[in-house]
Amino acid sequence: MNEMINVALPKGRLGKKVYDMFERAGYECPSIKEDNRKLIFENEDAGVRYFWVKPSDVTIYVERGAADIGIAGKDILLEYEPDVYELLDLNLGKCRMAVAAKGDFRDNTGRTLRVATKFPGITRNFYEKESRDIDIIKLNGSIEIAPILGLSDVIVDIVETGKTLKENDLEVIDTIVPISARLIANKASFKFKTKAIEGIRDSLRVQVNQ
Ligand code: PRP
Repeated sequence: MNEMINVALPKGRLGKKVYDMFERAGYECPSIKEDNRKLIFENEDAGVRYFWVKPSDVTIYVERGAADIGIAGKDILLEYEPDVYELLDLNLGKCRMAVAAKGDFRDNTGRTLRVATKFPGITRNFYEKESRDIDIIKLNGSIEIAPILGLSDVIVDIVETGKTLKENDLEVIDTIVPISARLIANKASFKFKTKAIEGIRDSLRVQVNQ
């Protein structure tokens, strides 16, 4: 019997694209495409078990070994710094972490900058390097509203197409880091299931480089 590899996939559009890559690599599990609300799918012959989890939870499953491997955004890896191996840049889900503000924003370095974000860790690191005093306002979504209502001076958030910023009259004033989806592995799993995990990584890598 094959050794099973547990794969945490991020729910949503990105996760579906990633599953398609696994399928093309020979790790198919057709039942996953059926219209149902199941969260766990398994193909014993191919040696894989997939589960759909909230994108921001993938690293938790992988770090604690509930999943051997998973797909997480670089934003989550930078924010939470989980103790996992990063095996491959999948070149999907590409966007950037950026600082944005209203068009008429002028930074007054004499004052503490109020920054609204879902990513306090990334924000802190960025402004520490800039030696800028900031006050972090942690929000959980719809960050773009903060500067409009005067809750913050700027925001640190993900920009993909730029549409959300544009429609809310905000502009990028700094790019912090490019973001994309990464294949990650639990450290112990990688040690004990090296061949199987490297096999998956290599067959995904071929598709990334195409
Ligand atoms: C993300 C991000 C921006 C938006 C950027 O939000 O926080 O709001 O996508 O995409 P765009 O540049 O293509 O417009 P998400 O959809 O994850 O929702 P959220 O408001 O809950 O963060």
